[in-house]
Amino acid sequence: MSEYTIGRVLLTEEKIAETVARLGREITAEYRDSDREMILVGLLKGSFIFMADLARAVDHPLSVDFMMVSSYGDGTVSSADVKVVMDLDTSIEGKDVIVVEDIVDTGNTFSKVLKMLKNRKPHTLRSCAFLSKPSRRVIDVRIDWIGEEIDDEFVIGYGMDFGQKYRNIKYIGVLEETDP
Ligand code: IMP
Ligand code: MG
Repeated sequence: MSEYTIGRVLLTEEKIAETVARLGREITAEYRDSDREMILVGLLKGSFIFMADLARAVDHPLSVDFMMVSSYGDGTVSSADVKVVMDLDTSIEGKDVIVVEDIVDTGNTFSKVLKMLKNRKPHTLRSCAFLSKPSRRVIDVRIDWIGEEIDDEFVIGYGMDFGQKYRNIKYIGVLEETDP
């Protein structure tokens, strides 16, 4: 059976902080003249650390809510079927909504969630992903703010897991198979 470990560092803590600060500035600028309610919707579990950082990097009044959808099992392969495991507990109608995701891979999860939320009549619906793997895209999904584009590698840390492990690693590393 294969064993896995954390391989090389892809993004350091410092680089992550710089990227989050840039996203925060861009989002702040975009909503400067809006006095509508802003809400960040984080997709659990992967986005929880990015959400905490991003929410503090945005200089605008906002609220947060979370939603959990299932896409992967405990492996590394996405399925096209996305199920809501835990829904928002607030209404997004008439609000400026930004959906926040850790990483967009095939695009299945993000596109389904965006479609679902659009039906709830937000005033605006935008999207922000910390990472994107453009070469893996199966569904063309619009991402308004992207932290970093990366190659087709499975990454862990900064909220992202492999079999629910490694979410608490402070940097983003590449998952590596070790010889048993
Ligand atoms: P998608 O539906 O294929 O775009 O998959 C998106 C979801 O898969 C993300 O929300 C992540 O939780 C997970 N995911 C995709 N790529 C990775 C990765 O490299 N590391 C950890 N999780 C990933
Ligand atoms: Mg996720």
